[in-house]
Amino acid sequence: MSDKKTFYLTTPIFYPNASLHLGHAYTTTLSDILVRYHKLMGETTYFLTGSDENTQKLVQAAKVAGQDASVFLDGIITNFRSLFAELDISYDQFIRTSDEELHWPGAIALWKKLVEAGDIYKKGYEGLYCVGHEAFITEKDLVGGKCPDHNSVPEHIKEENYFFKLSRYTQAVKEKIESKELYIVPETREREILSLLNEGLEDVSFSRPKTASSVGIPVPGDESQVMYVWCDALSNYITALGYGRDDTLYKEFWPAQVHVIGKDILRFHAAIWPAMLLSAQIPLPKSILVHGFITSGGKKMSKTLGNIIDPQELLEEYGTDAVRYFLARHITPFEDGDITRESFKEIYNANLANGLGNLVARVMQLAETHLEKGTRPEVVGFPPEYTQALDNFEVNRALDFVFLRIKALDQTITQTEPFKLVQTDPERGTQIIFELTQELYAIGRMLNPFLPQMCEKIKAAVIANKKPETLFPRKE
Ligand code: MSP
Repeated sequence: MSDKKTFYLTTPIFYPNASLHLGHAYTTTLSDILVRYHKLMGETTYFLTGSDENTQKLVQAAKVAGQDASVFLDGIITNFRSLFAELDISYDQFIRTSDEELHWPGAIALWKKLVEAGDIYKKGYEGLYCVGHEAFITEKDLVGGKCPDHNSVPEHIKEENYFFKLSRYTQAVKEKIESKELYIVPETREREILSLLNEGLEDVSFSRPKTASSVGIPVPGDESQVMYVWCDALSNYITALGYGRDDTLYKEFWPAQVHVIGKDILRFHAAIWPAMLLSAQIPLPKSILVHGFITSGGKKMSKTLGNIIDPQELLEEYGTDAVRYFLARHITPFEDGDITRESFKEIYNANLANGLGNLVARVMQLAETHLEKGTRPEVVGFPPEYTQALDNFEVNRALDFVFLRIKALDQTITQTEPFKLVQTDPERGTQIIFELTQELYAIGRMLNPFLPQMCEKIKAAVIANKKPETLFPRKE
């Protein structure tokens, strides 16, 4: 067995009923930065993302589009993958819950564990089901008879379902969270879930009759029922590692170091999922990182409001690293963050075209003119301000620190005026320019998790002693 530290990170699996917007791109980019950082620190990483396909939403969206569900789905998945490629998302696996070979055996094995533990029972049930949420909701959630989040009338359902004894695990889950064995970040979300647990959890419907849901994994031993989509979806975090099928990856990487999720799916991840794992006697993930929502012009980005920003559009205009930069630094992971096309452009021009881009040009112009050849600067460790912020998932703070160094380097040039010094004191002048390239190299290395392409370009420029082409052209 190797003694190398492992780092397994998951994103939520996305509903493939529509293309991904910038909010979804945020979850994934944040995740990618964390994975790249841990890789940089020498850990063995595994990065999982995927799609949540056994859902009525998909069936309905395909119908609206007038397409066969599988044709519609293939189009969307191609779109997901190309967005992730353009964002330089370094995932190791893209799991699809419709995959009967890779996902279903593990989901079925997990269900059987819950049955063995005596935690699954059948019951008649009547309630309101919101397809948008893929969950039962209550009368008091409605506004004017509609689900306010999805602006739709829920279905009134009366049926026989299998239930999971979630109530039985309220106390145990609470203890895991309070002891930080299951660490919920940030604290506001930890308090939110603890207050929910204090109210007590009710058992949850874990299956639907096949007649009501045309998609889904058959319940073992009862072909007339399919698993509830959240029960099926949550299990992806272990089925992707081969749970119930081939446990090589599972042995190496489970428990996950972190599940990255948005604040709307906290209850599923911090209450239902840990309860399922406890029931099946599987170790819990180490932590759950809960981020806020991306808003545009102060309002949640949504199709209904028509304020969606398509990440493809920004990627085409500004490039991969500019989009990653904005999401990493100008959105705070623990709160909601706003973006408009105007704010994006302003920040791009100020911090990338003028800030980083200009600095690289300035330093490398001096180096190319006055240094004889490129050097591979000495590799120093990463500063604690940087590593501590990233260890705490504060990617924006880590990048703030890097940009302080960028600003300081710019000031050093202005103050020491090496372009003049090389005339009067060539030795001292070239020494200063050499030191500038050293610091630029160190900055380039710190940019690795955030701006992988720029990191490589900066390092290569210093080594070759050559001013690169304009990294971030100014936008008018
Ligand atoms: N399929 C479920 C997750 C199952 S995980 C076992 C789901 N899918 S989703 O496509 O609706 O959302 C995926 C992720 O995107 C969630 O973490 C959600 O919070 C996030 N976001 C959706 N809209 C968002 C914003 N406007 N801003 C930031 N994140 C947002 O939920």
